[in-house]
Parts: sequence; structure tokens; C-alpha cells
Amino acid sequence: MAGARGSFGTRFGFILAAAGSAVGLGNIWGFPTKVGQGGGAAFVLVYLVCVFLICAPIMIAELAVGRRTGKDPVGAFNVLRPGTSWWLTGALGVLAGVGILSFYSVIAGWTIAYIYYAATGAVTGDSAATGDFFGQFVGNAPLSVGLTALVLGVTAATLLGGVKGGIERMTKTLMPMLLIILGLLAIRAVTLPGAEAGLAYYLNPDFSKVFDIRVFNTALGQAFFSLSLGMGAMITYGSYLSKGENLAKSAMWVVVIDTAVALTAGLIIFPAGFSLAGFDPNSSGPGLIFVVLPQLFATMPGGTLVGVAFFVMLLFAAITSTISLLEVPTSHLIDSRGWERKKAVYVLTAITFTLALPSALGNGASAFFSSLPGVGMGFLDLMAIIWNDFALPVGGFLLSIFVGHVWRVDKALEELNTGGAMPGAALWGFLIRWVCPAAIFMIIVFTALDLLG
Ligand code: PHE
Repeated sequence: MAGARGSFGTRFGFILAAAGSAVGLGNIWGFPTKVGQGGGAAFVLVYLVCVFLICAPIMIAELAVGRRTGKDPVGAFNVLRPGTSWWLTGALGVLAGVGILSFYSVIAGWTIAYIYYAATGAVTGDSAATGDFFGQFVGNAPLSVGLTALVLGVTAATLLGGVKGGIERMTKTLMPMLLIILGLLAIRAVTLPGAEAGLAYYLNPDFSKVFDIRVFNTALGQAFFSLSLGMGAMITYGSYLSKGENLAKSAMWVVVIDTAVALTAGLIIFPAGFSLAGFDPNSSGPGLIFVVLPQLFATMPGGTLVGVAFFVMLLFAAITSTISLLEVPTSHLIDSRGWERKKAVYVLTAITFTLALPSALGNGASAFFSSLPGVGMGFLDLMAIIWNDFALPVGGFLLSIFVGHVWRVDKALEELNTGGAMPGAALWGFLIRWVCPAAIFMIIVFTALDLLG
């Protein structure tokens, strides 16, 4: 069975593939943006608590479900609780894979253009001009659509190679390069003149904000997205793992790599930002990455090279994530519907591309999709809210209930202990049963209230 549906070749290959899924735009763009909005170091502290107490247990649970069943997310629930409606949790994840990929691929496409713009000096040091440049760029319909197609094409081509020859090989190539670029950029950023202000902002927490429920809410949502949880990506990758692997240990590696990359991205962006006159860490959305940083690259010595390196790194991070987003629905069509990989990849890529069009056109090219009548936001933002802010937490909530109370902790531990006794098993059981569902339930409610209020 394992041979037909594919499996990872080595433990190292799996860890890099799963870390590649986790490390993405969410780390390098999303994390620093949220730190800026959430008031700096206090957010970082709350984020770390969320990652280790709530998200790490969920990652372990997803991997256990995946490896125990050796199935896609829908098939996994059907194997563990046949004849019930639990498979719907997996189905939500399969849909979320397509939904998230549809707008994620648009933003990933922007990074390709910015590699070129950084290399050719198209972006200047003038702040108004950089903003206008970005606005015109994202409003260019053929360019946005073409770049989105390119991202989806590379993703599909990788998946056609299968789990070991495609996914594992691609992530084994891209992830080490990404980590090297990241390290070099961090060294460059903290040695910039004026970097101290950024470091202070980033590293000295204002403890009054630590107990702010909104900070907690944003931090948990960000941690969820960043670790690729709640949509069965880790169920799917776990299903390609051999019984000898210690799941909890592998999960911790993935969590640590993902968190280290997010923290390092902050270490690059805040010192760099604060070294620019008039920098506002609160500037949200695409501004930070596509408007603020290009100004810095245009003015600093050796900035062309640094700028190119930065956007190459962002592209690599994005591609290793788009791969996992497409693999979830692909594995579903292969396992639960008996499709051939090739057919599944072609059909899903076509569907995703169609759904991506309104997101690609919704940044100025089409007035309708840029600000949906009656919704008050663009199509891309709407997709992000539906899939990131709701589908993922709902999926994670259901998964923690399922593993903690339906499949049950002792059964899960049987699976978790196959590769050697799991350290901290009792703590994990407590967290997955009580802490995870309660905390996630809270963020779902608060997110809903926030949207309505
Ligand atoms: N974790 C990825 C990032 O941080 C996004 C992602 C979410 C990928 C869910 C797969 C599944 O960019």
C-alpha cells in the first residue's frame, strides 16, 4: 500500500518537507506584520506560549492520525470512525487546501516579480513612489494572473514527481538555501546603523499587553496558520511516514524550525525598518514587505544583492508551502476516490487557478473584486478571512476534540509510542483534551465577534 501512494525516503526528508510546509509567507510576512500590530515584544511572548502549549500538541495529534491510518484527511476519519460524520472535518481541510492556495499563490507570484524589480533597481528609495509602484504592479491584470499561473505550475510539476521524487526532493533543495539566506540577511540587518531601536522594540516586552485577549487571539491564529495546522496538511504528511519514526520528536523539530524562522524574520525586518527614517511598525498588509523593505534595499550599500536574496528566500518559503496546500486535496482524490496522481493534480490545479482569478484581479485590476459590493473588502481578503481565520481554527478545534475525546488519548499514544516511548505523554494528553479545544474555541468566538463588531 505504502508503495503505491508514496512515502518519505528519510526522517530528515520528512522534517524538511513538513518544516517547508510550515515555513512560508506566514513566517516572513505575517509574523512581523502581526508583531507590528500587536505592539512588539509582548506579542512575541504570547505567540511562543501559543506555539508550545496549543499548537505543538495539535501537530503531534495530526501526525498520529495520519500515520495510524495511512490516509488522506477524509479517509483518515473514515478509517478511525467509519459511518460517522467525522469525515467532514477532513473534507473541510481538503477544501481549505484549495481555498488557501487560491490566494496564497497570488501573493507568492508577487515575490517572483520583486526578485526581478530588486535586481534591476526598478524600486527606488522614495517612499511615495515605492507605494505607487506596488499599487500599479498589483493592479496589472495580465502580470498578476501570469505570475499566479507560474506559481501553480511549479507547484503542480513538483507534485507530479510524487512524495519522494517531487515533494521531498524539492524541499530538500529549497529549505537549506532558504535557511542560509535567512541567516545572512539577519546578520546584515542587525549590523545596520540605527538597528538598536528596532531590536529594542522587538525584544523588550510591554507586560501590560501580555494579558490583552486580542493579542492572544491574533497570536493563536497566526501560530495556527504558520504551523500549517487545522487542515490536515500534517495528517497527509504523517500518512507518508514509516512506523519507526518518533512522531513527537519530529513534530518538535518542525515547530522549532518554524518558530526560529519567524523569530529571525522579525530580527531582519524590525532593525531594517527602524533604520529607515519615519518607519511605522504598525503599517500593515503588504506594506511592510513590498513597500518598506524595497526602499531600504534601494538605499543601503549592497542593497541590490540583499534585496534579490530576500525575495528569493520569500519565494522558496512560499513554494514549499504551496506544495503542501495542493498535496492535501491531491491525496484525497488519490486515496478516497482512487484517482491517478496525474489526473488529480491537473484537475485540482485548474480548479485552484479558476478560484485564484478573482484574488489576482482583486487588487486594483477589477473594481468589483477589489471591493466586493456589500462586503466592504476585496476578494483576496475575504478568502483569507474565510479560510485562515475560520476554516483552520474550526478544523483544529474538531481535530482536538476528535483525538482527545473520540479516538481517545490512549489509542493515539499507542501510535505515538511506536517509534519509542513519547516524552511528556501525560502532558500532551492533558493539553489535547482540555487546553487546545478551550483555547481554540475562544479564538473562534472572538474572531466572529470582532468581525461583527
Ligand atoms: N504555514 C504556511 C505559512 O506560514 C501556510 C500554510 C497553511 C501552508 C496551511 C499549509 C497549510 O505560510
